[in-house]
Amino acid sequence: MISVFGSKVGQEELDEIRSSIEAQWMGIGPKTRAFEELFAKRLGTKQFALLDSGSNSLFMAVRLLNLPVGAQVVLPSLTWISCAHAVILAGCEPVFCDVEIETQNVSARTIAPHLSPKTGAIMVVHYAGKPVRMQPIQEFGIPIIEDAAHAVDSKLDGKACGTIGAVGAFSFDAVKNLAMGEGGGVTAQDPETVARARTLRYCGIGKSGFEASANKDRWWEYNIVDFFPKFLPNDINASIGLAQLRKLNQLQAYRKQIWNLYQREFVDLGWLALPCDPEPDEQHSYFTYFVRVPGGRRDQFAKYLYTQGIYTTFRYHPLHLNPIYKSTAKLPNSEQLNEEGLNLPLHPNLSSADIDKIISTVKAFSKEI
Ligand SMILES: Cc1ncc(COP(=O)(O)O)c(C=O)c1O
Repeated sequence: MISVFGSKVGQEELDEIRSSIEAQWMGIGPKTRAFEELFAKRLGTKQFALLDSGSNSLFMAVRLLNLPVGAQVVLPSLTWISCAHAVILAGCEPVFCDVEIETQNVSARTIAPHLSPKTGAIMVVHYAGKPVRMQPIQEFGIPIIEDAAHAVDSKLDGKACGTIGAVGAFSFDAVKNLAMGEGGGVTAQDPETVARARTLRYCGIGKSGFEASANKDRWWEYNIVDFFPKFLPNDINASIGLAQLRKLNQLQAYRKQIWNLYQREFVDLGWLALPCDPEPDEQHSYFTYFVRVPGGRRDQFAKYLYTQGIYTTFRYHPLHLNPIYKSTAKLPNSEQLNEEGLNLPLHPNLSSADIDKIISTVKAFSKEI
């Protein structure tokens, strides 16, 4: 079965892990610091704090904004559950908004009806790595959290996604463009906010060692500055991340090549709506290839591909339709995408034979309808 998501790891990752094992150092340490420095540099930001997952990075991002309990956070319904969970776990209220049908991204238009005096923040998701148009949203004057889980290589007008809003959250889980098994992290406009993330991520411990000791000689003391879980990264995952970071341009070039090939090969299939290419001022990350199959044929198409050995999925089942959130929102585009959307395989572990098979099988479905 051809998988829908995937990453490519090999000797470079093994070599990095080996050097940490040989140094007898698995916890947070030099590899974590090296990754943080290099990734911040790549983003063009001063500071980046590595954390243990993208989901926890979103919770961290909400907490970093110091929103009052009960504040509302407007976010897309078409996103991963961690976005809403982060808001709720931080004592705030998620308010789901719609996305644009062509981009699967939120816009000022889809956010505006959900703003209220209780709105404390807006969370945007750069779906598939296509940048959300930030400027009209920034004009609301409300702090923005960017979920850049799909957008590790995305840019808008030359600025890296994740570095445009107040706080940006990244994911490096096993199938992300930059994969380290599990991992994530945050960056912020203000380096002090990232420094605070570094404090919070270790159970909210501020100072430790001699610095924390009241009389300066009890180095085993620590002062606790906040109540926070442990979201610490480690040098094994950071080792994988370092190797992935070195080859990220190459991995991205391969993703782009597959994307462009699909766009060319599928353009004449009248029954298939293709994803948007990036605008001239945008850089895309090509995390996933999202198509629409209007006319009630999406499930038939997915089953057809499955029987031919091609796995697909639909990301994301709209959150407002999930009873746990008790939402009464009506979000027509998200609901339409729930019926029509499908993610086709796009990742660096696809072989040329896999890609050829995907293209010919998608085209062959034309005869089934
Ligand atoms: C849009 C989005 N945000 C956040 C996350 C959470 O990241 P992680 O899996 O690293 O916890 C994901 C993971 O798939 C995601 O797709």
